[in-house]
Amino acid sequence: MSALAVPLTHHPLWSALQTQALQFEEDGLTIAALFRADPARAERFSASAAGLFMDYSKHLLTPDILEHLLQLAEAAQLPAAIAAMFNGERINNTENRPALHVALRNGRADSAEERQVQDTLARMERFVAAVQGGEWRGHDGRAIRNVVNLGIGGSDLGPAMAYAALGAFHHDALRCHFVSNVDPLHLETTLATLEPSTTLFVIASKTFTTLETLLNAQAARQWLLQGGVPEAQLWRHGAAVSANVAKAVAFGIAPENVFPLWDGVGGRYSLWSAIGLPLALGTSMAHFRALHAGAHALDEHFRNAPLPRNLPVLLALLALWYGNFWGAQTQVVLPYAQPLLLFPAFLQQLDMESLGKQVRKDGAYLDTQSGAIVWGSAGTNGQHSFHQLLHQGTHLIPADFIAVAQSSSANHDMHRQLLANCFAQSQALMHGKTLEQAEVELLQQGLSPEQARALAPHKMIAGNRPSTTLVLDALTPQSLGALVALYEHKVFAQSVLLGINAFDQWGVELGKALSTGIHAALSAPEPSTHFDASTNALINRVKRE
Ligand code: F6P
Repeated sequence: MSALAVPLTHHPLWSALQTQALQFEEDGLTIAALFRADPARAERFSASAAGLFMDYSKHLLTPDILEHLLQLAEAAQLPAAIAAMFNGERINNTENRPALHVALRNGRADSAEERQVQDTLARMERFVAAVQGGEWRGHDGRAIRNVVNLGIGGSDLGPAMAYAALGAFHHDALRCHFVSNVDPLHLETTLATLEPSTTLFVIASKTFTTLETLLNAQAARQWLLQGGVPEAQLWRHGAAVSANVAKAVAFGIAPENVFPLWDGVGGRYSLWSAIGLPLALGTSMAHFRALHAGAHALDEHFRNAPLPRNLPVLLALLALWYGNFWGAQTQVVLPYAQPLLLFPAFLQQLDMESLGKQVRKDGAYLDTQSGAIVWGSAGTNGQHSFHQLLHQGTHLIPADFIAVAQSSSANHDMHRQLLANCFAQSQALMHGKTLEQAEVELLQQGLSPEQARALAPHKMIAGNRPSTTLVLDALTPQSLGALVALYEHKVFAQSVLLGINAFDQWGVELGKALSTGIHAALSAPEPSTHFDASTNALINRVKRE
């Protein structure tokens, strides 16, 4: 698949869409008015796949605009790009690799790669059964009770997010913990209540060169030794997941306890690989496979559904629409489900590490906005902090609400309150409150006309703020798999529209390289003088005597 030679911004459809966005504003069109004009709007602008329901009717969108966006997707050769990804073509051009995450969950064993995937899953299955079943024990014969994953970025966020999301499926006797930060307090506070003899560490690093993870692994080794685990028995307390098996073995992990992943699996797309080992240990292998099945169902949808019904494509087009035609710079993600607390953080890496690029695949500078700034937290908490800015701030911030129809809690009424708040927020964002409404309300509350007029602008809410609502029937391994795959493919589809490579992340390297010199300066006895004045002053301020 060749990248599109001419950027989409040169396409006549691009200027047509620019005109439509301007016209939308000039005509004073509102989402609420579009609902009044079209009784079928909610149905027209909703779609389902793999157990996910998506309502995208509360958007600054008309059928015409959507039609143009879809034509733009065709012009960007999105269907061919989707096929290229599923066919394992080397779409990650700067690293000359395919993007193989979809092959991790297709359940097939046709190609050599797929057979390696199935072999690894089978090894994971045996390992999980041994640890959960108590055949695998600590050095003193006690069963493993705690699993501590040491990893960062994609080697942490996916399994940590999924483990939190699947609380209703946790194993009775095993608890998982996730340590990522090189701040020693992260490991120390996590280990404070654990016992070395019943703790198993999983060192998760695709490269096995990541500073944070290696330092945490060394500190964990010391903790085990100091906690009475004999050196010869350390192997009972450690496994590793890496594409660099030799380095993991050199670190001291027994070769049979190293689970491979592959270069073609990007860190932020690696939850489906053995990076999911702590999740499988903390739930079960059957649940891990169900996660795969959910993602695979969404893969099939992305691969086969026509663009107008294709959920990831629609999400990508909406992101393109707001980022490039409405000047939106951020996207808020609001899961109304406490177990999805870590989903925004997971999505930040997935979306921003993939789409935070300055050039297109051919090296030409982007003449569009790159991906958006993704942020958010679990509802309803945000309603009592940052939602004020969503409602009355001057920024246009498209929102993705994620609701779960059936909670695993038996407290149905509280769950209904949660859903009511979710739907009320998207309604409030859309309708707002006019100045007149605010004034009338104040008069009804007994304020004088002067007081009501003075206060009304503070109470007025512009409305017309767009949102998507995703509804999961229940939060299960299957629906979670589909949800994650939905966003993975949204990111990929958006990268194709923007013409960028979603699978590299060169921008993160500079800071890593610079930290080496600064660490040396912090460790040296003499004051730092080699850097800029600000950095020298900061180093000298925190240096230990
Ligand atoms: O620094 C960024 C990054 O390379 C991510 O892309 C990756 O998920 C993370 O670091 C961890 O990398 P590794 O799994 O190789 O330790």
